[in-house]
Amino acid sequence: MNAQYSKQQTETLDYFRKHARGWATAAKGSSREEVNVIQQRNDYVLNVIRQRKETRLLLDVGCGTGDLVCAVARQGISAIGVDFAQEMVQIAQDNASNNRLELAQFVCGSIFDYDIQSAGYDIISANGFMEYISLEQLREFLDLALRGLKQGGSLVLGSRNKLFNLFSLNDFTSTEIAAGTAQDLLREAIAIVNCRDLAELDFLEPAALPGHMDSQTQTGIDVSVRYQYTPGQLIHLLREKGWRTVHLAPIHIHVVVPKLKKKYPSLHYDLSNLLQSFAMENMELMPFSSSFMLHAVKV
Ligand SMILES: C[S@@+](CC[C@H](N)C(=O)[O-])C[C@H]1O[C@@H](n2cnc3c(N)ncnc32)[C@H](O)[C@@H]1O
Repeated sequence: MNAQYSKQQTETLDYFRKHARGWATAAKGSSREEVNVIQQRNDYVLNVIRQRKETRLLLDVGCGTGDLVCAVARQGISAIGVDFAQEMVQIAQDNASNNRLELAQFVCGSIFDYDIQSAGYDIISANGFMEYISLEQLREFLDLALRGLKQGGSLVLGSRNKLFNLFSLNDFTSTEIAAGTAQDLLREAIAIVNCRDLAELDFLEPAALPGHMDSQTQTGIDVSVRYQYTPGQLIHLLREKGWRTVHLAPIHIHVVVPKLKKKYPSLHYDLSNLLQSFAMENMELMPFSSSFMLHAVKV
């Protein structure tokens, strides 16, 4: 335990140090029938690279077992992964050296202690990282990313989707009703499903950003609080900081509620994987997705 970390960050560090091997297996996808969220998020970042004119250097924050960094290095692009869980970084380093990926580098440490090279990066990605930091730390991270990216650089974020609480019809839904936020979420879901252009969402007043929480309904990862955001909340937060959101995509789409998914996992996997192939161009799927990807540009 490190005294400088918050309770949430200490639990996160403990969890990922203990579960590094399991994460590496999940990233590879143990079974073709499952939904590989890690792969879906990584594919989104690789697609951003394909769409950019040029990418020379990528920084992946909370890189875990380094699968994205290695995939980027395989394309001849230098990539640096930062993660504070030593066991995750060890697997990432072994993976890179076993595959002779000299363009892949890893740093073990907190991103908040990382000496970010000013305006040095073309892309900064952070998949599944934001949920493990407070809102205050998220703001600090966005400032850091703004400093680190070149003009026109891309920030690519993978977030848990708070809008999904409306349709999961479980404890998360009851919590939103009790907090009085369900209507705001519903209003945003309607706006997203019906918007023709992302710019239309600039006029939306999203639900208030999450305050500090001590605990939450657990979903398999043993960390007391994992923050969730709606696309609208992130778009607004980013705009305040001088970013322009250019694309959103749903990740891990649900046709059946999580309760039924437990009963019939393969039904969920088949439907979810089928719909994922429509995700890049169809924001109508957003409210039914437990995560989403966002691409913002430093203007
Ligand atoms: C859910 S995992 C995601 C890993 C990887 N990005 C992926 O998609 O497979 C989150 C990672 O963030 C790392 N992390 C959390 N807080 C961090 C911090 N302050 N600095 C660096 N890494 C952090 C954790 O150790 C963990 O490996």
